[in-house]
This record gives sequence, structure tokens and C-alpha cells, in this order.
Amino acid sequence: MGNIFPRWTNFLPLQVLVALGGVGTLVVAILWYSFTPKYTRVGYEPQQPIPFDHSLHAGQLGVDCRYCHSNVEKSSHSNIPNSQVCWNCHGPGKVKSDSPKLAVLRQAMDPNSDGYTGEPIRWVQIHETPDYAYFNHSAHVNRGVSCVECHGKVNEMAVVSHQKPLSMSFCLDCHRNVENHLRPVDEITNLDWTAHDLDRDAFYAYLAGKTGKAADELKADGPDEIDQEVLGVYLKDAWNIHPPQDCAACHR
Ligand code: HEC
Ligand code: HEC
Ligand code: HEC
Ligand code: HEC
Ligand code: HEC
Repeated sequence: MGNIFPRWTNFLPLQVLVALGGVGTLVVAILWYSFTPKYTRVGYEPQQPIPFDHSLHAGQLGVDCRYCHSNVEKSSHSNIPNSQVCWNCHGPGKVKSDSPKLAVLRQAMDPNSDGYTGEPIRWVQIHETPDYAYFNHSAHVNRGVSCVECHGKVNEMAVVSHQKPLSMSFCLDCHRNVENHLRPVDEITNLDWTAHDLDRDAFYAYLAGKTGKAADELKADGPDEIDQEVLGVYLKDAWNIHPPQDCAACHR
């Protein structure tokens, strides 16, 4: 029980509500749900200490999200890379190592630089869940939910902004209609991917394995094109996906 105390002080009414349970809770919850502010943080685009450009690094150069956000599959929290990761490419004698735009990086990394501090770069956090709600990255990306679902097309953003509401109703909209949002796990950081990119023969071969019918037969009866609906319904079943909708799953 030890760790519950600080949370009570954080958001007492919610804890009481969730603890009480029952019909009353449901009524209040439905009311609350309908009034959840949907777009409050959408558009938030703070100025960062270095003008880091995702459309260049992740888009044009094609560096995978996980090269920098290396914990996203392993832990609940998706890390921001430390300065060493940037230094791998922007260190002495490497890419744009004298650029004025990288002065803050040199102050963090190079003892010979003007204004050296040796301190981490203070990136401003954009997406943030309140303390009373629980969110886990790895539980999503390892179940075929792409970054693009919750962050938009970061690979096209020169400056990252908050593009999806990430409100309670946003979370639940997907949990209730999850088949519209699932994809093969190895495509989660390919933000331009669509279900139409999927190989049709491979899809029917897999279905055949599951149903015991011939692949050709399934293909003749099945849709000509693998779209999100066909794929999503299938993945949900094949992977036994059941996103939680009970209060205690997200309010622990
Ligand atoms: C895989 C190598 C690589 C990594 C890692 C990398 N960059 Fe870059 N970065 C580049 C390349 C290539 C360019 C484009 C250089 C050019 O325009 O000729 C660039 C350009 C930049 C520029 C623009 C510089 C200018 O003067 O136009 C900034 C700022 C920058 N990067 C910041 C960062 C930061 C901050 C990090 C760490 C979070 C980082 N980069 C990590 C390769 C990298
Ligand atoms: C070269 C390193 C690098 C790569 C590659 C990279 N990022 Fe980032 N990312 C950063 C840095 C540094 C920040 C913090 C500065 C900023 O917001 O631009 C950041 C910030 C973010 C944020 C906002 C974090 C917050 O505070 O809420 C999101 C979301 C994000 N990245 C998603 C992605 C996705 C999705 C990809 C792949 C398409 C990706 N990143 C690729 C370095 C990287
Ligand atoms: C199901 C929704 C969802 C998906 C999918 C998702 N994120 Fe997030 N992301 C969030 C939420 C919610 C937050 C705020 C979390 C918090 O407060 O800890 C967040 C925060 C972040 C942050 C900021 C962390 C910080 O401390 O500044 C980064 C970076 C990030 N996400 C990167 C990614 C990358 C990269 C992917 C894909 C590999 C991804 N996310 C997939 C919902 C998602
Ligand atoms: C685009 C779809 C999507 C969105 C948006 C989404 N989820 Fe999920 N969520 C899933 C899927 C898929 C699973 C995995 C279910 C399974 O494994 O059966 C999941 C599982 C979970 C779980 C159970 C696993 C765990 O971590 O304990 C929690 C809690 C959860 N989501 C919270 C959230 C919260 C909070 C948000 C909003 C910030 C959110 N989700 C947004 C699709 C989504
Ligand atoms: C899938 C995850 C998820 C489930 C299930 C869930 N919530 Fe939430 N809830 C959230 C998130 C995330 C927020 C924070 C929203 C924000 O930041 O705007 C939130 C916020 C709230 C708030 C604060 C007011 C508001 O609407 O922003 C209350 C009260 C609340 N939830 C009650 C409940 C109750 C009661 C239930 C059960 C019927 C429930 N929640 C189920 C994710 C969830």
C-alpha cells in the first residue's frame, strides 16, 4: 500500500471514485468521459534548446526512431536520447561539428568548447500523461500499435508538436475499435506504412495455416485487397488482443 499514499494526495477524487466502484461510478464516468477535453494540448510546440529536425533525421536520413528512443520497446517510458547519441554523428571532425546550431551540444560534450557545462541538454517535454493515469509504451508498440497513432507523422515534422489529444476518450476510442489500428510489429516505426503495403500471398498463406483451408481457396473467396479492416480483424484474433476498458487498468 506504501506507494498509494502520494497518489491519493495527487488526485483524491479520482482515487475515491475508482475505489468505490458500482453504478454511481459508471454514471459519473460517462459524464466525465463526454466532457473530457479533447483538444486541450493539441498544437503545443515548445521551443527546444537545439533546433533538432525529425523530418531531416528520421525522414530524409531514415534513422530509425529506436536508434534514439531506444527504450520504447523495453520499458513503459520512451527516453529522449542523451547527448552522446548526437555526438556519435556531430562530434569533432564529423557532421557539421562547428555548426552554431549545435553550440548547446558542444557545451554538453566538449570540455574545450565555449561555455562548457557538461550537463545534459534540457529538452522540453511535449507529451505528458497526468500522474493519476498509467501508460506503458512497450505494451503498445510490441502489440502492433505504431508511434504514428499517438504522435502523428513525426518523420515529417521539422519541429515536434502535440498532434493527437491523448485524452481518456482518445485512449478508449482505440481500445474499443482496436482493429482499425493494428499492424505487423516490424512496421511500428515505419510511419508511412499502410495495410495496402502488405503482401497478399503471405497473408492468405498465414490464414490457411490457421484455418486448415487451402490458401488458393481462401484467396478466391477473400477480398482482393488487404485493407486495414481485413488485417486488423485478423491480427486482433491471431494475437488475442484485448485492450482493457476498466477504470483500474489505467488508474492504478
Ligand atoms: C546518424 C547520424 C546523426 C545523428 C545520430 C544525429 N544527427 Fe544531426 N545531422 C546529421 C546529418 C547528416 C545532418 C545534415 C547535415 C547537412 O545538412 O549537411 C544533421 C544535421 C543536424 C543539425 C543542423 C545543423 C546545421 O547547421 O544545419 C542539427 C541542429 C542536428 N543535426 C542536431 C542533432 C541532435 C541534437 C542530435 C541528437 C539528438 C543529432 N543531430 C543526431 C546526422 C546525425
Ligand atoms: C537522431 C535522434 C532521433 C531520432 C532518429 C528520432 N528522434 Fe524523436 N526526439 C529526439 C530528440 C532529441 C527529441 C527532443 C527534442 C524534440 O522534441 O524535437 C525527440 C522528441 C520526440 C518526441 C516528443 C517527445 C516529447 O517530449 O513528448 C516524439 C513523440 C518523438 N521524438 C518521436 C519520434 C519518432 C516517432 C521517431 C521515428 C520516426 C523519432 N522520434 C526519431 C531524437 C530523435
Ligand atoms: C498508444 C499511444 C502511444 C504510442 C503507440 C506511442 N506513444 Fe509515445 N507517448 C504516448 C504518451 C501518452 C506519452 C506521454 C507519456 C508520459 O507522460 O510518460 C508519450 C511520450 C513519448 C515521448 C516523450 C517522453 C519524455 O519523457 O519526454 C517520446 C520520446 C515518445 N513518446 C516516443 C514514442 C515513439 C518513438 C513511439 C513509437 C516507437 C511511441 N512514442 C509510441 C503515447 C504513445
Ligand atoms: C491506437 C490504439 C491505442 C491507443 C490510442 C491506446 N491504446 Fe492502450 N492498448 C492498445 C493495445 C493494442 C493494447 C494491447 C492489448 C493486449 O495486449 O491485449 C493496449 C493495452 C493497454 C493497457 C494494458 C497493458 C498495460 O500496459 O498494462 C493499458 C493500461 C493501456 N493500453 C492504456 C492506454 C492509455 C492510458 C492510452 C492513452 C494515453 C492508450 N492506452 C491508448 C491500443 C491502444
Ligand atoms: C485506456 C485507459 C483509461 C481507462 C480504461 C480509463 N481511463 Fe480515465 N483517464 C485516462 C487518461 C489517459 C486520463 C487523462 C486524460 C488527459 O490527460 O486529458 C484520464 C482521466 C480521467 C479523469 C480526469 C478527468 C478527465 O476526464 O480528464 C477521471 C475522473 C477518470 N479518468 C475516470 C475514469 C473512470 C471512472 C474510468 C472507468 C469507467 C476510467 N477513467 C477509465 C485513461 C483511462
